[in-house]
Amino acid sequence: EVQTVSGLAGDITLLAWLRRTRRLTGSKEGCAEGDCGACTVVLARPEAGGSMVWRPVNACILFMGMLEGASITTIEGLSDGAGGLHPCQQAMVDFHASQCGFCTPGFVMSLFAAWCNGEGLEAEAIDDTLAGNLCRCTGYRPIVDAGLSLVRVDLPASELARRQTEAELIAKIAHSGTVRLVDDGAENNVAFVTPTTADEFTDFYFDNPNATIVSGATDVGLWVTKQQRHLPVILWTGRVDCFKKATETDDHIRIGPAVTHQQVMSGLAARWPDLGE
Ligand code: FES
Ligand code: FES
Repeated sequence: EVQTVSGLAGDITLLAWLRRTRRLTGSKEGCAEGDCGACTVVLARPEAGGSMVWRPVNACILFMGMLEGASITTIEGLSDGAGGLHPCQQAMVDFHASQCGFCTPGFVMSLFAAWCNGEGLEAEAIDDTLAGNLCRCTGYRPIVDAGLSLVRVDLPASELARRQTEAELIAKIAHSGTVRLVDDGAENNVAFVTPTTADEFTDFYFDNPNATIVSGATDVGLWVTKQQRHLPVILWTGRVDCFKKATETDDHIRIGPAVTHQQVMSGLAARWPDLGE
């Protein structure tokens, strides 16, 4: 479904919205600081070349405005619609990979992202795929075995249909305009603003020097969830194309403010191998 939201504070997280507004409580809150993976959902957006990439993300520190134009799949969206378990869920059952179950939706979503991308379930990669998810009662061996078993599972028809729908809906909602999420009911109109050009970004910051600039929100998200701070204006780098580029010359590397750690790491590791580790 396409979700249109308005009247939300800019510092509302996806997890808060899912659980409190949509009453989708499959995604859990464990640490609320991006460490345990209990809140993992899968975010999909087309990359620069047009191919779709599915990323496991921590909903607890993801602000709603960062989802503009993206698709989110939660654990509730995985079954085939007729009540049957998704292969990533079934594997967890088959390998007895769940006890209290609190971590399980997050593990399933991390496996689902790897399964969608067609990489990360191999023996040499599975530990990294699951490194963002903590389990305190099952032990990791059965969870790893569940993940390894998925390499052999073909895509069911329901999954092909889901992907097609996802791609169509993402194409339908695509636009290049600035988005402002403003809580009209709040005293200070808490806002989340997503410029799409560097000029627009700098103009806005010039006029609003108190705005908090956010990229991945892995620090700033904790100001909200742990320090209970309210950020009056959040300015997001994630929709400005030139901010997503890293360029190298002989004597320097220039890293745009919206470049991801993963994106830049291979280039850095080529010069300084220790950074790759
Ligand atoms: Fe622990 Fe989000 S609740 S990573
Ligand atoms: Fe209990 Fe993982 S099954 S924390």
